[in-house]
Amino acid sequence: TGGVTTIDPGYKNTGSCESAITFLDGEKGILRYRGYAIEDLAEKADFLEVAYLLIFGELPNKEQLDKFHTDIKKHSVVDDDVKKILDAFPKSAHPMGVLSSLTSALTAFNPSSVNVDSEEDMYNAIVRILGKFPVLVAWAMRKKLGLPLDYGDSSLGYVENVLKMMFKQPNEDYKINPIVVDALDKLLILHADHEQNCSTSTVRIVGSSHAGLFASLSAGISALWGPLHGGANQAVLEMLEAIKEDGGDTKKFMGKAKDKEDPFRLMGFGHRVYKNFDPRAKIIKKSADEVLEDLGVEDPILGIAKGLEQEALNDDYFVKRKLYPNVDFYSGIIYKAMGIPVEMFTVMFALGRLPGWIAQWREMRLKKEPIGRPRQVYVGENLRDFKTIDNR
Ligand code: SDX
Repeated sequence: TGGVTTIDPGYKNTGSCESAITFLDGEKGILRYRGYAIEDLAEKADFLEVAYLLIFGELPNKEQLDKFHTDIKKHSVVDDDVKKILDAFPKSAHPMGVLSSLTSALTAFNPSSVNVDSEEDMYNAIVRILGKFPVLVAWAMRKKLGLPLDYGDSSLGYVENVLKMMFKQPNEDYKINPIVVDALDKLLILHADHEQNCSTSTVRIVGSSHAGLFASLSAGISALWGPLHGGANQAVLEMLEAIKEDGGDTKKFMGKAKDKEDPFRLMGFGHRVYKNFDPRAKIIKKSADEVLEDLGVEDPILGIAKGLEQEALNDDYFVKRKLYPNVDFYSGIIYKAMGIPVEMFTVMFALGRLPGWIAQWREMRLKKEPIGRPRQVYVGENLRDFKTIDNR
């Protein structure tokens, strides 16, 4: 058994590393990036400032932030040959699969991003992916919608540029809506890091073999895709739409969620760490009200979501298991109000989580952590003699 006597499925009680990046307190519902409260950052900072904070450990001054953004803009062109890979996908391809593939493919066009032992090499790989990733995000959406690709506009802010690349219609000027920019900026900040969640642990373990940064991020995107993780924000909207189609009977769906036979999970509820309200869900719920009102969007789905939340908060099964709305429960309602297709919701989560993945990968590499290689408890067959095929 290799000297291991107990295992910890899903690593529920295993600490994989020491990290100075993000602090969570699951009992108190606390989330801090580099010591700053998420509530402060969501209100007072912008996404690029938070990306800098997570990756380099301090809030940037004006000069540092300008240089960071300039360096990112310098590398926001994606090699034209990458379009040939995009073209090879069927329109029905899920954008997370497109994003994961194109992110890994970027290695071929940026070979210097692989052997990054010096901080300077690391910085160069980091600004490259921060520049190119938003283009891949927009291209994944344009592919889904059958729209021509767009490279964006370096005179715009980081989030404004993403929105323009996603939404600009051919032969029309794109009008920046500050409400949408502010709402997306806040959503991306709230998704930016979350200590050793499934996709971040994936980025760390792939990066621990010294595979390149882009390959490590591609693996993280694949892990995030799952409906138990980032894919939940898409699953929440599909669940809420199903409840609406079924007549809006939230009690009936609550009953399904507790029915052990049909393993139906109430998507957007529960969390491995938060055994109290997810602080991000609180902020997003408030923002959902504001954004829908500001955009003049009436969406019955929001009412169904609030109804479901009330049911769950007063239901013994959920209260006993400390199941509260998580970050994915309300985010999709805002994405939908912005006109983002539901298949793109998890891609927006990946865009937000990118700086966190980068920060955690960089911390792991700078600390020269060993390659990740856990052991097991062997429960298979003892030694047995080989049988020729005629004797099987
Ligand atoms: C994210 O880790 C992170 O930080 C992730 C994330 C991040 O920022 O990176 O916060 C983002 O992934 C948020 C979570 C999004 N996923 C979902 O909303 C999917 C629905 N949630 C569940 O699948 C679940 O709550 C998890 C995956 C989030 C957590 O699962 P755990 O910690 O492994 O808990 P568990 O599966 O052991 O559940 C404990 C009990 C079980 O019941 P019993 O066997 O004890 O009777 O609670 C039940 C579960 O059946 N349960 C649910 C439920 N979640 C847990 N029952 C109904 N609906 C749910 N959503």
